[in-house]
Amino acid sequence: MNQMEQDVKKILFSKEEIQARIEELGKQISEDYKDAKSLLVIGILKGSCVFFADLIRQISLPIEIEFMSVSSYQDSSISSGEVKITKDVNTSVTLKHVLFVEDIIDTGFTMSKVMEMFCERGAASVKLCSLLSKPDRRKVEIPIDYLGFTIPDEFVIGYGLDFAEKYRNLPYVGVLDEKVYL
Ligand code: PRP
Repeated sequence: MNQMEQDVKKILFSKEEIQARIEELGKQISEDYKDAKSLLVIGILKGSCVFFADLIRQISLPIEIEFMSVSSYQDSSISSGEVKITKDVNTSVTLKHVLFVEDIIDTGFTMSKVMEMFCERGAASVKLCSLLSKPDRRKVEIPIDYLGFTIPDEFVIGYGLDFAEKYRNLPYVGVLDEKVYL
């Protein structure tokens, strides 16, 4: 057991379970967009990077890819769900079909703001694919068009998800042991 694995309380989704679900999501996305002229798949850094890399290889269409970084201030004393783009896409999205890829939807603030922005920019359509969703934490309603797994409100790490920037390189999704942060 390596140093990171010692901090995992339990494995929620194994490598194999994740890959099997991604194959299904990729098939569904390929089917749904098969008649679209173009598809721009946008990964939200950094959490989605591992999922993004696996997902796009299960999409059998000639897609384009882009990445964005956003930071959100969810402290109610600052603002409710203010989202700042710290790295934007390098292309126009006007009349393009856009599919965002996230690792997790928690309160929903980040993606509801970003998706609203892209609708205003004139995208032909804006959809969302997320590996995980924590519905217990939701503060704004947000449709997740393609969802890997629903999870309870636990601290999850691995497969792109971090705690204090670590554990992103674990090959599975696990629950972080309380001993690490208590
Ligand atoms: C996480 C996640 C989403 C957002 C979800 O990113 O990747 O972008 O939070 O939360 P919300 O639904 O409450 O808005 P984070 O800010 O932790 O950055 P990271 O992806 O670089 O880890």
